[in-house]
Amino acid sequence: MTTDSAANIFAGHFTSRRVFITGGGNGIGLSIGQAFAEAGASVMLVDRDARVAEAAQNLRDRGFDVEHAVADVTNEAQIKAAFIRVEELWGGLDVLVNNAGIITISNLEDLSVEDFNRVLSVNTTAVFLCCREAASLLKKSEHGVILNAASGQARQGFIFTPHYAASKFGVIGLTQSLAKELAPYNIRVNSYCPGIVKTDMWDYNDREWGSRLGNYKPGELIQEWIDDIPLKRPAEASDIANLLMFLASDASSYITGQAINIDGGMFMS
Ligand SMILES: NC(=O)c1ccc[n+]([C@@H]2O[C@H](COP(=O)([O-])OP(=O)(O)OC[C@H]3O[C@@H](n4cnc5c(N)ncnc54)[C@H](O)[C@@H]3O)[C@@H](O)[C@H]2O)c1
Repeated sequence: MTTDSAANIFAGHFTSRRVFITGGGNGIGLSIGQAFAEAGASVMLVDRDARVAEAAQNLRDRGFDVEHAVADVTNEAQIKAAFIRVEELWGGLDVLVNNAGIITISNLEDLSVEDFNRVLSVNTTAVFLCCREAASLLKKSEHGVILNAASGQARQGFIFTPHYAASKFGVIGLTQSLAKELAPYNIRVNSYCPGIVKTDMWDYNDREWGSRLGNYKPGELIQEWIDDIPLKRPAEASDIANLLMFLASDASSYITGQAINIDGGMFMS
């Protein structure tokens, strides 16, 4: 079970820190945004889904300093515009969370090049793009941090998702390379590898893997996989937010270039 949230533990720690989160309109990204806002940060939620406006408004209604931008992370012009807005609003940036990601599940012979490239483009190329656009802003910070969403599939590829696995292995390589390049500016770069986090993504995953791996009824396959997790439960989005608060905080100031598993023990290397 989750205990105290990192937002309570780090209450006030992020006051006056500025956090940019891609895919922040829903799922894990929104939970991360909420946690940073609760810990005092100014937060920019970026999502291609216009409902991010409502998510940001809900947090503002609770008294938090939350902005939003409707932007597709694969669209260079839209991402540049979002970072220009951050500069105008805040003059700099302390934390970039590259959370936006997509998955598709397909047999090899049905997997189109277009689909393969789309997953790479959102999950990997866009991480590079956001890091590049954020770099000059993060260099002005005394606490520059980049956090990149990888996956258990950056540890071991799953069946029917070669493109997703490639995209997430790519995130780890990108993270290590940038950790070396940006270390002289005291910008730390880490990635994180969630296992099963019950978000909208899993309705699709359960259905598509379930139909290919057997005659599973909805919910049966995911339950089988959860039963194999040593801690016997899926992650809550808040579990991921808790890790990210630590990795963004000064308490982790000696950690860079790492990929941290957060999966209840699913993978141990
Ligand atoms: N859910 C899991 O079990 C799990 C496991 C491992 C890794 N992850 C990773 O965590 C991240 C978040 O996953 P989630 O489960 O919250 O997903 P989700 O589908 O619930 O939410 C993803 C969010 O990203 C946004 N998004 C997608 N493509 C975008 C784009 N091109 N531009 C801007 N926004 C875009 C969506 O609109 C949505 O708001 C992803 O990178 C995913 O690969 C998730």
